[in-house]
Amino acid sequence: MELLSNQPRYDTVPDKYIFPPEKRPVNNVVNPSINLPVIDLRGGCIDSDIGRDEIIRDIMKAGKEFGFFQVINHGIQAKTLNDMLQVCENFFKMPAEEKKRYYSDDMSRAFFLNSSTQYDQSETRYWRDYMRISCYPIEEFIDQWPENPENFRAVLSEYTVRVREIASKLLKLIAEGFGLDRDYFCGDLSNGTKMKVNYYPPCPDPSLTMGLLPHCDRQLITVLAQGTAACGLQAKYKEGWIDVKPIPNAFVINFGHQLEIITNGVLKSVEHRAITNSGAARTSVAVFIMPDMESFISPAKEMVNEENPPLYKSFVFKDFLRIYTDLSAKRVDVMEAFKING
Ligand code: OGA
Ligand code: NI
Repeated sequence: MELLSNQPRYDTVPDKYIFPPEKRPVNNVVNPSINLPVIDLRGGCIDSDIGRDEIIRDIMKAGKEFGFFQVINHGIQAKTLNDMLQVCENFFKMPAEEKKRYYSDDMSRAFFLNSSTQYDQSETRYWRDYMRISCYPIEEFIDQWPENPENFRAVLSEYTVRVREIASKLLKLIAEGFGLDRDYFCGDLSNGTKMKVNYYPPCPDPSLTMGLLPHCDRQLITVLAQGTAACGLQAKYKEGWIDVKPIPNAFVINFGHQLEIITNGVLKSVEHRAITNSGAARTSVAVFIMPDMESFISPAKEMVNEENPPLYKSFVFKDFLRIYTDLSAKRVDVMEAFKING
């Protein structure tokens, strides 16, 4: 097993983590003056009418311009979020022996630990370890989650429930923003939940390697917590990359391929990547809300008319996942495969 987190520190970047120059962070450098919109969810009580129209407007505007935004005052307690980040950091700190039994690349497992990525065929390894967790329905998976560190299962279940609440509120607001039934995304379009906990150890030379190469998330919507230890996540904006700057207790929200397709391209699934840093380890928790495997996905009929013909094919979600993997998660190739006349 080759987990980065098994070694206390690195003095140099081993060759197998060194990317060819065109894939390094220096390309299309970031515009430092542009920040993602920050949307105040007013305590998460968005079922009341107060301020709802304004929040919907902000989400639609941010969604169309950036495909990414941050939410604050979302109703999840700081303790719930901090406990989650802490227990995940503690997991990666466990001795190699303890972590070894979770190491796998079997996608059918409800929990596994791995390093680098499974989606890129190239030889270079990513500077990250990660755990991938099937989360929902919790009862179906919890027995397969690790029992250590202490409280791991309890903290993860609480976090899953709370994050699903936020996602569900956001999806209702988005549906409303499009004039769809408020519950449009409830049920089989959003029943599934997977989590990826990424751990990026300090890197002796961040200019040579990457934590994650550019990709779009393949699900419906992503709710990401990134702590405040370091900057690392970058979102595509115009021809460059912008930093998604850590804000205490905020969540980063972005749309997956499924939301782009269902909204017939109005809400974009935007590419993002993770760079490393030399100062501190960075842990991020990405929760992906996703359709059931057998769900039928197509542009919503309400989003399509004579002036706006459907841009994407219809498919069953599990077939999308297969093709996404076959195409190594590359946005242009994935979207091309599902475009009409593409
Ligand atoms: C992901 C992802 C970004 C990050 O896991 O899909 O984009 O900041 N993570 O770790
Ligand atoms: Ni991602």
